[in-house]
Amino acid sequence: VFRNKLEFFAAAKISSSFPPPTLPEIAFAGVSNVGKSSLLNALTRQWGIVRTSDKPGLTQSINFFRLASKLCLVDLPGYGFAYAKEEVKESWQELVKEYVSTRVGLERVCLLVHTKRGMKPLDYELVDLMERHKTPYQIVLTKTDLVFPIDVARRAMEIQESLKKNKSVVNPVMMVSSKTGAGIRNLRAPSPNPEVT
Ligand code: GTP
Ligand code: MG
Repeated sequence: VFRNKLEFFAAAKISSSFPPPTLPEIAFAGVSNVGKSSLLNALTRQWGIVRTSDKPGLTQSINFFRLASKLCLVDLPGYGFAYAKEEVKESWQELVKEYVSTRVGLERVCLLVHTKRGMKPLDYELVDLMERHKTPYQIVLTKTDLVFPIDVARRAMEIQESLKKNKSVVNPVMMVSSKTGAGIRNLRAPSPNPEVT
């Protein structure tokens, strides 16, 4: 499905402008600058459609992309880190929370966590919210190329442990680098049968 042409089709800064949910949806959430937009590019091998930046806080609206008429990929604005006014930051967080707790057709949220930095309080807030709303989610460690493999493994274990208290079955932490492509294939096909996707 990721081989289909990626096409931007909607942006929303308020929930009333979310497009109607007609396709199954996968959303990418996380602190600013963890690499959400880059991961969308790497997953689809289509660069330049989703904009990325060195400067945290680039993605300021919820951006909806579709892969033909099969799947919708959603780039969420990052929380926490942006060079933005407090009230603007708050409104992004609220928008992300509203999206995650109300969106029909949302099959999974990939919660991206910077391998070097680990989970932040806002990440845990989002996890709690998704637990409450029974939104399936997947933790994805990003930028694994920046640390030694042993540290990637340590971070994954630390997060897995910290999430054990949650009631739902937490999927194993996945690890990717959009830069080297490591782990991207696994993320595309987390099912036991990679040939299918
Ligand atoms: P916001 O839209 O601000 O929330 O950021 P984002 O999470 O969408 O991050 P984005 O994809 O724009 O990437 C932020 C920076 O991290 C860019 O400079 C990317 O080139 C860099 N980056 C993304 N993925 C990787 C990676 O796997 N490895 C390395 N080394 N850098 C990465
Ligand atoms: Mg972005």
